[in-house]
Amino acid sequence: MVKAAPGIGDLAQAARRRIPRFAFDFLDGGAGNEAGVRRNRERLDAILLKPRCAVGVDPDTSVCLFGRNYALPFGVAPVGMGNLMWPGGDLALARLAATHGIPLVVSTAATTSLEEMAAAAGSNAWFQLYVARDPAINRDLLERAWRAGIRVLVVTTDVPIPGDRRRDRRNRFVLPFRPTLSFIAQVIAHPEWALATLRAGPPGFPNYAPYRPRGVSRPMAEFMSEQIKGDFRWSDLAPLRQQWPGSLVVKGLLAPEDAALALEHGADAVWVSNHGGRQLDSAPAAVDALARVRVALGPHAVVLMDGGIRSGEDVAKAHILGANMVFSGRSFYYGTAAGGAAGAARAMTLLAEDLRRVMVQLGASGIAELDRRWLWE
Ligand SMILES: Cc1cc2nc3c(=O)[nH]c(=O)nc-3n(C[C@H](O)[C@H](O)[C@H](O)COP(=O)(O)O)c2cc1C
Repeated sequence: MVKAAPGIGDLAQAARRRIPRFAFDFLDGGAGNEAGVRRNRERLDAILLKPRCAVGVDPDTSVCLFGRNYALPFGVAPVGMGNLMWPGGDLALARLAATHGIPLVVSTAATTSLEEMAAAAGSNAWFQLYVARDPAINRDLLERAWRAGIRVLVVTTDVPIPGDRRRDRRNRFVLPFRPTLSFIAQVIAHPEWALATLRAGPPGFPNYAPYRPRGVSRPMAEFMSEQIKGDFRWSDLAPLRQQWPGSLVVKGLLAPEDAALALEHGADAVWVSNHGGRQLDSAPAAVDALARVRVALGPHAVVLMDGGIRSGEDVAKAHILGANMVFSGRSFYYGTAAGGAAGAARAMTLLAEDLRRVMVQLGASGIAELDRRWLWE
């Protein structure tokens, strides 16, 4: 039963069985040989912690970020095509973000509109922008996000060109769905997913719906990938910074030099990420890059991080190495794929309970306390 899944890995196994292979592979897969996906995990696993005894703490897991309090020090990373994994998954996560008091980042490529997501997640919703070639689209998306009550903008910079997603190519996975024999066979083999998807309609890109030129029958996915700017430059940040009165985060940085440049160009925070190993297969593990970025930027910069986080213990490790907030994409969508809203809730509970358990064992009473003193070096 998904409600009793012992760990995120169990949710991933359940997801693998419950949804068609092309959908699971889209979520689970990475770039190239997927060494980068594995490295994110291996480097987190290699970090040893030093538990302290006889401290007797009742840990406070809340963090203050961008002038407000979040009940937990982790959030939901932006995931495009989220409802492919399970219809209604996006909204289930948005509601959970509101209940648990954690940030949830709505992707430009989300399958649920930013307005609906913000209505469900309340002030916990952030918006992730893939910068479009047409500046009018960027302006309008920012305006819509602000009107919807969103106050944190995340600009993703690590997709100058789509990663080499071999599983998607092997599965001939494209949008809109192309009904090849293998596609049809996988759908038939997963009738619960098929029925739910049929009822909800195939996943689309509602955030981009207003911008597709009228009278053109090109698929939305094609229009969107054409718009999403491959050649993002630092100078492209200026008009966004000028327009956006809220907090601005630059996501997808690994090099400490780039993290410094993002701050120089007006970002309030940097988000260390290798896109979950979906872009450059030989990129460093996100947790290694995090440690370097923290050293380079000093103690006061706001540094967010994702990549391979699958437990509360991982969340604690990332905070120990200098993150102010930690995110995961797959952990939560393994949850929706494994069991819809109940699976998403299980993912959330697993991370939260594990984090508390780890903090008690470490003898850490608050997130801000977590630093390198807890590393076993
Ligand atoms: C299926 C999938 C779709 C994603 N879509 C986006 C996206 O639209 N925008 C974005 O900035 N990052 C996207 N990412 C990257 C995540 O935001 C995040 O960096 C990554 O998932 C973190 O690694 P983890 O999945 O191992 O936790 C996506 C990741 C996955 C797995």
